[in-house]
Amino acid sequence: MPAGAGLCALARTGPLLLHSFTGVASNMSTQNEEKLKAAHRALEFVKPGMVVGLGSGSTAHMWIQLLGEQVRDHGLEIRAISSSIDSENFARGYGVPFLTFDECPVLDVAIDGADEIAPGLALIKGGGGNLLREKIVAGAARKFVIIADESKIVDTLGRFPLPVEVIPMAAPLVSRKLRELGFQPAIRRAKDGSQFVTDEGNLILDCSGRMLDDPASIAATLDSTVGVVEHGLFLGMASLALIASASGVLERTS
Ligand code: 5RP
Repeated sequence: MPAGAGLCALARTGPLLLHSFTGVASNMSTQNEEKLKAAHRALEFVKPGMVVGLGSGSTAHMWIQLLGEQVRDHGLEIRAISSSIDSENFARGYGVPFLTFDECPVLDVAIDGADEIAPGLALIKGGGGNLLREKIVAGAARKFVIIADESKIVDTLGRFPLPVEVIPMAAPLVSRKLRELGFQPAIRRAKDGSQFVTDEGNLILDCSGRMLDDPASIAATLDSTVGVVEHGLFLGMASLALIASASGVLERTS
């Protein structure tokens, strides 16, 4: 039984069966085909009995569908903790059972997408607005695996605006501080034009305007800024990225 797993250990019942992905239309874009390839490869990291962290976003969604099909159609016994309400509802549709961190404080593996992947597996995440729970889930996992198409690979983080989750009341103050750091923060909007509100009831400031040559120092500054709940810099967290391109799926380690 893994250390700290307690209630969450299930008997390991045998190897996971891989199967062909049936739920996606054949006229996918190349980028979506690559996301799917990465998602498919990630199934290899899930074994029966594991407690699994579910990511969010379109790539994670594909992976959850593949995983869900294993649970529903092949009796795969896993349990999960999700990084978003959306991913949890989606997985529940396949009969994936869920745990809480009270029941299981340590996950065997968490698998999630990313918006940018730089050398050392320094990441920007939060394009879907789930960065807080994603970081909680990733931080509780023994192994954090990123799945992505090759468009997410960069030399330096920052072309993708850095999402910063803030307490609504503090948004003007944090915006000011971010401008002093050289960012141009913009409050994220939902499709209907209203302010985007996270699963935890906070706002997101999408911060463009500068490259992150020293992401650790930006992360430290944001970590110590009152009113910032979390930011989308995931540094030193992922140990493996499965990067799909036309020629296959490449494994990048930190
Ligand atoms: C959501 C995320 C996603 O993992 C990230 O935005 C990548 O999404 P996609 O797989 O749709 O490209 O961090 O908050």
